[in-house]
Amino acid sequence: MTIRILGIETSCDETAAAVVEDGTVMLSNVVASQAELHAQYGGVFPELASRMHVESIIPIVEEALMAAHVGWDDLDAIAVTYGPGLPGSLLVGLNYAKGAALAKGLPLIPVNHLEGHLYAHWLQSGADDGSVGRPRFPVIALIVSGGHTELILAHGHGKYERLGGTLDDAAGEAFDKVARMLKLGYPGGPAVEQAAQKGDATAFDLPRAWLPGTYDFSFSGLKTAVLRALQKYTGPMPHSFHAHMAAAFQQSVVDVLVEKTARAAQEFGVNAVLLSGGVSANGALREAARAQVPVPVHTLRRILCTDNAAMIAAAGYHRYQAGDRAGWDLDIDPGLQLT
Ligand code: KG4
Ligand code: ZN
Repeated sequence: MTIRILGIETSCDETAAAVVEDGTVMLSNVVASQAELHAQYGGVFPELASRMHVESIIPIVEEALMAAHVGWDDLDAIAVTYGPGLPGSLLVGLNYAKGAALAKGLPLIPVNHLEGHLYAHWLQSGADDGSVGRPRFPVIALIVSGGHTELILAHGHGKYERLGGTLDDAAGEAFDKVARMLKLGYPGGPAVEQAAQKGDATAFDLPRAWLPGTYDFSFSGLKTAVLRALQKYTGPMPHSFHAHMAAAFQQSVVDVLVEKTARAAQEFGVNAVLLSGGVSANGALREAARAQVPVPVHTLRRILCTDNAAMIAAAGYHRYQAGDRAGWDLDIDPGLQLT
């Protein structure tokens, strides 16, 4: 029997809904991004994000059902992100999902946003052109986004071990902050990547926080080094400065992310490495990972790298099969981890 799940995701600044069959077939995947709204603040403005979710959630879910050509009666469950994320944003999606589940008599499945990023790799036609087929456990997942930098060893469905994560800024946050310093715009990741294409990564000697003996990351020292280099110029800046700095910064982030991911893949003898999250759209990161990781590297189409609800429905399917059901007292968990 086919299991059809409506996924709902509002953990940050994307209001998203999707219908997915059996955790693999995307019938629809609708994402309303607030990026333009937050661009004027150079980052996500939490209060505004939650208010936008309130306005968007009902039309976005209706659109997801319509695009999938299904009605409420065709659904088996509603899967919703309950953490990690911004409290005010998470509350909108969770309370909408509770209301809809209660009204329509559907079970409610609690989903960890990070598990969603992992399960994006189980969606059919989710892979980008470098497709290597559906992953087989055990795998190493590198989840890098505006809010997270997590290195996870996944032994099987629902069996995770957190190897490490960032001690300060998330990788995407570092991209966003450096883009702001270089006046490249928001969101910073794509802007830095574009600028870096015209730059020479060896033009600046930026630090790399190796944190030996751990799978943890740190990007705040790197960010400060970029700021110091910028402050050195009081007069007119050389024309090539921004491109060189973008390239050097990107290289520094990529070097550490890929070195630790490759080492983890080797140490734990996994079958594959899965790259997820907004930063995994970065071409330099993908290229370096493919060159240095000793096992196949799975990457996603851009729409599935960044926050979306198809990945929540995909993760929700495995939770549904495992018998996980949320009670009506389910609360948000903004600091939720994947363990
Ligand atoms: O997964 P996502 O949509 O949201 C979070 O859960 O945070 O990721 C957004 C983040 C932003 O920080 C953005 O700058 C970064 O992903 N990003 C990139 C690229 N595209 C998006 N970072 C580096 N290179 C890119 N091409
Ligand atoms: Zn995310």
